[in-house]
Amino acid sequence: MSDGESPLINALRQAVRSAPEQAEFRVALAEALIDAGDTQDAIVELGEALRLDPDSARARELMLAALSGGATAAGPPSPASETDPAADQDPGFDWSAAEAELDFPQPPRFTSSPKPVSADDDGEDPEGSPAHDVERPALSLADVGGMAEVKERLQLSFLAPMRNPELRKLYGKSLRGGLLLYGPPGCGKTFIARAVAGEIGAALISVGISEVLDLWFGASEKNLTELFELARRQAPCVLFFDELDALGQRRSLTRSSSMRTVVNQFLAELDSVGSDNEGVFVLGATNAPWDVDPALRRPGRFDRTVLVLPPDAPAREEILRYHLRDRPIAEINLESLVERTDGFSGADLAYLCESATEKALMDAVRSGEVRLMGMDDFDAALKDVHPSTGPWFDAARSVALFANEGGTYDDLAAYFKNRKGTKGL
Ligand SMILES: Nc1ncnc2c1ncn2[C@@H]1O[C@H](COP(=O)(O)OP(=O)(O)O)[C@@H](O)[C@H]1O
Ligand SMILES: [Mg+2]
Repeated sequence: MSDGESPLINALRQAVRSAPEQAEFRVALAEALIDAGDTQDAIVELGEALRLDPDSARARELMLAALSGGATAAGPPSPASETDPAADQDPGFDWSAAEAELDFPQPPRFTSSPKPVSADDDGEDPEGSPAHDVERPALSLADVGGMAEVKERLQLSFLAPMRNPELRKLYGKSLRGGLLLYGPPGCGKTFIARAVAGEIGAALISVGISEVLDLWFGASEKNLTELFELARRQAPCVLFFDELDALGQRRSLTRSSSMRTVVNQFLAELDSVGSDNEGVFVLGATNAPWDVDPALRRPGRFDRTVLVLPPDAPAREEILRYHLRDRPIAEINLESLVERTDGFSGADLAYLCESATEKALMDAVRSGEVRLMGMDDFDAALKDVHPSTGPWFDAARSVALFANEGGTYDDLAAYFKNRKGTKGL
């Protein structure tokens, strides 16, 4: 595109060479390159600039311009050519360290639990590869207790454009990729993803990343494409990728180059989604965003994070009500329970109710007398059930303190600041 580069570009290239860590020089160079029509080079510079300074609004803006401009100026870039420079350079990724920990500490913890298959599921394919469940969640955001901030962010950045095709056109490619929900386990990431789909009557396809990998390794590489095609057929559709960190972990198994192929194919599919208003919206979730492959965190992919914290007081009350709805209870002081369960996850609260029921039941068996569950049972249960989010916060605290480059974890840092001195943390 750029035969005989302009003196300006030459000068800026020299500046970048002499100060490669200076994001501003790269942004300036990218701007000049875009003006000269060389979007491919500009994308590379901007990718680097965003790595150095993820907060740079200018770099992000130019990246979006370059990505959309690139498609018209130079014909649609093949997904691979757009994906690979980033993935291959991947300056933040230490391959030798990854190799050293080839024996990765944890296998993916779980695959997403099977969801009820609805009648319109046409994902079954004759070759017998696993079909993906298409769910039409009957949930809405109103069913999610508390989480006011999370809901607001989802409204603004996800639901509004989803509801409104005109708005989608306006946002254009900036809607590529998706939001990444992160936070301690059991605090409602999966739950709220389902509620988001339910909120606008969209279909939900929920896939654990380890499932995607197994799919790929198990059968033909066409399957990953099929997953995205299924989503397109179901549009409007929320495509929800759970345990996104599993891709990072597995990716460190560099023994197979096929691993890189699957990652790159995943990235290419991801990059293609949403670019043409087809009504497929991507959400991701992880307990460990710091383990998520950096290539997945690039602009246009899972570049925006939303922190999902343990339920606040109103959410705890709703969750407790929900789990006690069918139990034989008497005289439960919900307010006191809410107060004493600060830091509990949704899952912990469910376990607390379970455990209190068990105490009442055991007592009934012992005494031969059936009685309703009361506050005593909860007092006893609270001695055994403790918030499970502690270890997560221990890990997250050091990330917020020492690895909050570019403010990725500002939400988390603010949370710790607020909680300082509060019990339990
Ligand atoms: N804000 C909330 N409102 C209502 N229920 C919740 C909320 N947060 C969590 N829960 C309950 O806790 C359970 C576990 O949440 P889940 O979404 O599986 O957690 P995560 O995906 O973050 O590990 C949910 O199935 C739901 O019943
Ligand atoms: Mg989950």
